[in-house]
Amino acid sequence: MSKFVDQVAFITGAGSGIGRATALAFAKAGAQVAATDVNETTGNETVALIQKLGGDAFFSVCDVAAPDQIDAAIEQTVHTYGRLDIGINNAGIGGRFARLLDQTPDDFNQLMAINVGGVFYGMQAQIRQMLKQPENVHRDRGKIVNVSSIAGVRGMAMGAPYSASKHAVIGLTKTAALEYVKKNIRVNAVCPVYTHSAMVDDLINAAPNMEERMRRVIPIGRFGQPEEIAQAILWLCSDENAFCTGQTIQLDGGMTAG
Ligand SMILES: NC(=O)c1ccc[n+]([C@@H]2O[C@H](COP(=O)([O-])OP(=O)(O)OC[C@H]3O[C@@H](n4cnc5c(N)ncnc54)[C@H](O)[C@@H]3O)[C@@H](O)[C@H]2O)c1
Repeated sequence: MSKFVDQVAFITGAGSGIGRATALAFAKAGAQVAATDVNETTGNETVALIQKLGGDAFFSVCDVAAPDQIDAAIEQTVHTYGRLDIGINNAGIGGRFARLLDQTPDDFNQLMAINVGGVFYGMQAQIRQMLKQPENVHRDRGKIVNVSSIAGVRGMAMGAPYSASKHAVIGLTKTAALEYVKKNIRVNAVCPVYTHSAMVDDLINAAPNMEERMRRVIPIGRFGQPEEIAQAILWLCSDENAFCTGQTIQLDGGMTAG
């Protein structure tokens, strides 16, 4: 598959889990990849994995809670590859597993700064750059996918700040989609259910029998794989999908069908 040849993809939180799988999938599909993360070691590992496959990528350190770091990483991307076609705002944290009354102002503020601020400032920097560029041969100026969660469309007991942050990501996605549709920039979101990653390992370890309890609520009977989420993200960014904007795709093994 070489659907993304001549396209440049910028990904936050690319050092692990869904972000790494997405970076690898874009590179396999021919894109040039700016892999960014707050963690330099794991971010560089992602780049090494892409290069081992013969792909083209570089790493830029970027804490998404710091707007100036996002701006600098976008600038480095454009300096390296000449343009920006795709923005994937994926970096996020799960926060503390605790009831509403036990969540502290620090818990709340940190989650909002990373999970909401990262998407807000990420989209600002990406759209600012996309608007400077001419449309490509498909009359498309750019595609953005934000990573929300099933906790962005339902409540999540013991995760109020997380659920609030992921609901906010959907509001940002829909609003940006409306504001920039006439400029040929598409903005969508994915909402995964539990997916194998470091974040889910933390949740599994939070209480006894947690893994079994988490699995039981997913009709398909298993967690998602990061590669499955990555494929949905690529589909949302593909030129065949040019009519789709402002949508939230639930990747949940049937959870919200009932
Ligand atoms: N794994 C799941 O079950 C699941 C379900 C729904 C949504 N999500 C969402 O998917 C996204 C990716 O999560 P994952 O499951 O791959 O987790 P992960 O922990 O494996 O990866 C998260 C990555 O984000 C990076 N990161 C954390 N804080 C950052 C910051 N301030 N700036 C830049 N990078 C930062 C981490 O270093 C890590 O590489 C998150 O937004 C998460 O909320 C995950």
